[in-house]
Formats: sequence, C-alpha cells, structure tokens
Amino acid sequence: MHTYQTPLDLVRDRSPERPVALARPDAVAVAARWFQDNFKGDVFYAVKANPSPWVIETLAKNGVTSFDVASIPEIELVAAHAPGARLAFMHPVKSRSAIARAYADFGVRIFAFDTHEELAKILEATGGARDLTLMVRLAVSAVGAAYSLSGKFGVETHEASALLLAGRRATQGRLGVSFHVGSQCMRPTAFQAAMAQASRAIVRAGVMVDIVDVGGGFPSVYPGMVPPDMADYLDSIERGFAEMMVHEDTELWCEPGRALVAEASSILTKVELKKGDALYLNDGAYGSLFDAAHAKWPFPVKLFRAPEEGGEDGEVREVEGALRPFRFYGPTCDSLDHMPGPFWLPDDVREGDYVEIGMLGAYGIAMNTRFNGFGDAETAIVGDAPMASMFGLAGRNIRLPREAQDEERKVVRLSRPKGRAGKSRRKR
Ligand SMILES: Cc1ncc(COP(=O)(O)O)c(C=O)c1O
Repeated sequence: MHTYQTPLDLVRDRSPERPVALARPDAVAVAARWFQDNFKGDVFYAVKANPSPWVIETLAKNGVTSFDVASIPEIELVAAHAPGARLAFMHPVKSRSAIARAYADFGVRIFAFDTHEELAKILEATGGARDLTLMVRLAVSAVGAAYSLSGKFGVETHEASALLLAGRRATQGRLGVSFHVGSQCMRPTAFQAAMAQASRAIVRAGVMVDIVDVGGGFPSVYPGMVPPDMADYLDSIERGFAEMMVHEDTELWCEPGRALVAEASSILTKVELKKGDALYLNDGAYGSLFDAAHAKWPFPVKLFRAPEEGGEDGEVREVEGALRPFRFYGPTCDSLDHMPGPFWLPDDVREGDYVEIGMLGAYGIAMNTRFNGFGDAETAIVGDAPMASMFGLAGRNIRLPREAQDEERKVVRLSRPKGRAGKSRRKR
C-alpha cells in the first residue's frame, strides 16, 4: 500500500483513474485506545463494519484483541491478521457447518442465539460441548438509532425466560445476554434503558448471568447527525450496569463497529461527467456509497482539481468557493445507483475533478460489489485528519453553509417508537 501525507499528494502523484479507499490507521488507533481506556469492560470489534486487513491489524496492535464475527470468512480474516485473538460468533443464525468449524478449527467458544432451535444447533454442532460461553440475544428498543437492529434478531425480553434458563442449563461455561440498541444511536440513555430491559428479563427468568454485552451502536459524525460526547454513552452504560441485577463478577462487554472505524476511511472518486446538479462519479451505491444511496446520508465532501493539461496553474489544489448542492450518480447502469445528497461542492466542479467523500470507514468499503465491472477500488494510506472526529482528531461538527444546515436537518430520520410501547415510553 502506498502512503501519502494527504489525498492531494496522491492526486498530484498519479491522478488515479479508479476510486481509491483512503485509509487512516492512526484514526483507528486513537479510537481503539479511547475505548480501551474508557470502557470499563472488554471491547470486541464488530468486523462487519470494516473487514480491511489494515483495520484488524491496527486494532490488534492497539489493544483490541477481541472480535465479533458473523461468518467463517470473517473468522479466517481475523485469524490471519490478528493471530491468537478472541473470537465471538455473535450472529444469531449460523449454519451447522460454520458452528462446527468455528469450534473445532478456530477455537471459538462464544456463540449467540435467540431461539431454542439455534441453541440446539450450537450444542449438536459442537458435539455437546460443555465449555461454551452462550450469549442470549435480546431485542431491545431502538429509539434514537438511525438503523434499528432489533427487527430481525433478538428474543423479546418478556419472552426470554425459557431461553435464558435453557442456556444456563446447557453450559458449564458462562451465560451472557447481548443486545443492540441500533446503529448510529444518537441517544446515550438508550443504553441505560436497554440494560434495564435486559435486567428485567434476567430477574424474570431467575438466572444469574456472567456477561452483559451492550453491543454496538456507538455513533460517528455525519452531516445532520452530530452525536453527544462519546463519554456520555459510557456514563449511561455505567449507570445502567450499576442498576442491573447481576452478581459482582459479571463482566461488561461491548461490540463497537462504526465508532472504531467510521472516521478512518474516505473514498477518493473522480468526476466523469457533470449534468446540471448531477455529478457522475466512478464510485456509487454498489461501491462504497451504499448508505448515501439507500439511507440517503449526505456524507461530507472535498473537491480537488488536477492541473489541466497544458494549463498554466501547475499545482493540484483543493477547490473552495461558493458551494451549491449536488447529487451523485455512480458508474453502473442501474438508476438506483443514485445518491441524492445534497453534497455541497463548489459551483464550478467539472469533469476530471476529484471528490473525496469522508466518514466512510464504517459500512462503506465493506459494502463494495463488482456489479457491472466496477468496484475495483485500491487502498492507499494517508496521514491527514478525518473530516470530523468523536475522538479529538478534528472538529465534531462538519462545517456547512447555513442553507446546507437547514437541508441536512431534513435529510436524516431516526427510528421513532411505534404503537403502545412508544406511547408509554414518551409519557415517562
Ligand atoms: C451483533 C452486532 N454487534 C455489533 C454491531 C456493530 O454495530 P455498530 O456498527 O452500530 O457499532 C452489529 C452491527 O450490525 C451487530 O449486528
């Protein structure tokens, strides 16, 4: 991998024709150390957020040596790049062969489930192993999160007693509960509330648990979504843990994905065509811009211009000036390959310019496909600061013109409570 001080140096050096994933390992290191220093428990990195080898290696070098994995390829990846790491197979639905291989070939002992059927599968596929750490995945409220993760997985807390009891009986190892408050959670108190829900489930079941895993959901900064301090999230978790009915030795775990990597990558794309307010880029919805297309997140952008051939000003430079909103199209022939933005760029942006799209380290590169022959991004390391940071590497606000701020507020929608549960929560 080539290393450049800044993306400008990269453009200056070789005017790339393909998109380039810009990797900032220092940002991963800072986030990893922050979690290690401040979270009063064990930190598992959720590999799905960004499975790049440089991410796994940087985390391991900076003390994060536990990983939440969801598949055998993720397990193989971690085994190759962080040998000796502790692996937790936290996907609540796994194939029998994946469970058997994880246990026998990779030494995985931590398995999640949210049904009796999955628990039976885990026990059978591990040959009746008694040394398992069994994690019951609970469904908790996702109010205040940009992505709810409770619809698909998790046993409802009021129905969890039998499963908790079955888990307790099934192992001579440890029993835990886990949940996920939803990704990009904007309300720190969501953790404390979820822990109260989990505590009620534990008390109702009459079991003792050895582990409380508060999952992921820790946010990053995006236009229109500037979260509270990360410390507020850990305070909420500490309060929630203190209030839980658990024994003194119960361990606290978390599984951040986004928060550890979001700042650490951006993508450098090239403008292939300008048509009114639409810019056709060489990366898009089937590349690193899944969230920009499907969740309509208006990621922050910067514009770089290479000197025109035979032109007079020979320097590659960042272009600033009066901004206006643009939308993007990706390189494939699918009309869904559209990112509405708005992305605020200088009015005179033109073909051949480079647009750096920031804050794409989580669920960006990880979503890349080869559809239509595109998606072949290379990776280069850069040493400049991310466009925004929860860990002091840059401002926590993304600077935008006033009209842009009004627009951004309209763009991002968070999960809202629905039905009776929502009403009773609002009354409290
Ligand atoms: C089980 C589990 N843990 C952790 C995470 C990471 O979540 P986040 O990136 O919001 O921190 C996910 C995300 O899907 C998940 O499914």
